[in-house]
Amino acid sequence: MPTTILQVKDLKTYFYTAEGVVKAVDGISYEVREAETVALVGESGCGKSVSALSIIRLVQYPGKIVGGQVLFDGEDLLQASEDKMRSIRGKRIGMIFQEPMTSLNPVLTIGEQIAEPLRVHLKMDRKAASQRVVELLQSVGIPDAERRYRDYPHQFSGGMRQRVMIAIAMSCDPKILIADEPTTALDVTIQAQLLDTMTEIARRMNTSVILITHNLGIVARYADRVNVMYAGRVVESAGADSIFESPKHPYTLALLQCVPRIDVGRSQALSTMEGLPPNPNEMPKGCYFQPRCPYSTSVCEQEYPPLEQAGYGHMAACFNKR
Ligand SMILES: Nc1ncnc2c1ncn2[C@@H]1O[C@H](COP(=O)(O)OP(=O)(O)O)[C@@H](O)[C@H]1O
Ligand SMILES: [Mg+2]
Repeated sequence: MPTTILQVKDLKTYFYTAEGVVKAVDGISYEVREAETVALVGESGCGKSVSALSIIRLVQYPGKIVGGQVLFDGEDLLQASEDKMRSIRGKRIGMIFQEPMTSLNPVLTIGEQIAEPLRVHLKMDRKAASQRVVELLQSVGIPDAERRYRDYPHQFSGGMRQRVMIAIAMSCDPKILIADEPTTALDVTIQAQLLDTMTEIARRMNTSVILITHNLGIVARYADRVNVMYAGRVVESAGADSIFESPKHPYTLALLQCVPRIDVGRSQALSTMEGLPPNPNEMPKGCYFQPRCPYSTSVCEQEYPPLEQAGYGHMAACFNKR
């Protein structure tokens, strides 16, 4: 049994807005084991990014982590000091986000930006850092690394910039890599190449990956285990094979019926599913998926179903499991 290296327990992150409290992440639990890729999947707005930002404590105002635990390395990160968090982010936990949010600094060379975590976290001197930067650039498949090292971000394509982001995220040999929709902004042919590179490096360095995506094609190809999220909660959790072979939750079933294929048009969102997720300010009574669910019965309108065993290593929160 591989070691568990991260445990998210009943994590709750709420936004305190003028319209009321938005329960963006409303009690999610899952774990990440050594060297595996765990996917968080669900429609836009279901709380994937907020849950990832909560792990590294980068939730922005008016958001606030209001409950739960994030156990990593024998410590609850939600209780750790800000100094401790700074030493974990970018070192023990690497991060890659969808482009616009993390764009590289336009006035610094690629080399300087990859060297920064090496100098800050690993205290490497300039020479050692330069050498390591070239190796990192090579390992993420950037040709002619010794020359490109001195280039600026605008001299790189979107796909190449995301490769640089992978190099930065992996520079300090993290235990976990959080990849939040790392390829959503990219052309579909580039997406697969980038994800191949990312997962290959993670495997080589024995790094676990939390892969956030709304694309089940990507999940099928890269994830070992899957947590399906809906309206701030995990509704189904299982091995990737199990999710695709025998989905238990009607929401997962619906997602699978409109699965975008990685080899066809660029990430057709899951919006082909009927209806919309609930308005976070007026969550339905009972199961949050019930208003959209073809299998809903009267109990579903009254109570939120518990996440319970639905097969070997398989959990689902539904009164009418498939
Ligand atoms: N700054 C904010 N103010 C208010 N609500 C927010 C804010 N950021 C996120 N949320 C809420 O959190 C929910 C989850 O957002 P997010 O985690 O970004 O979704 P995902 O990554 O799954 O698309 C959103 O649907 C929204 O209701
Ligand atoms: Mg997101």
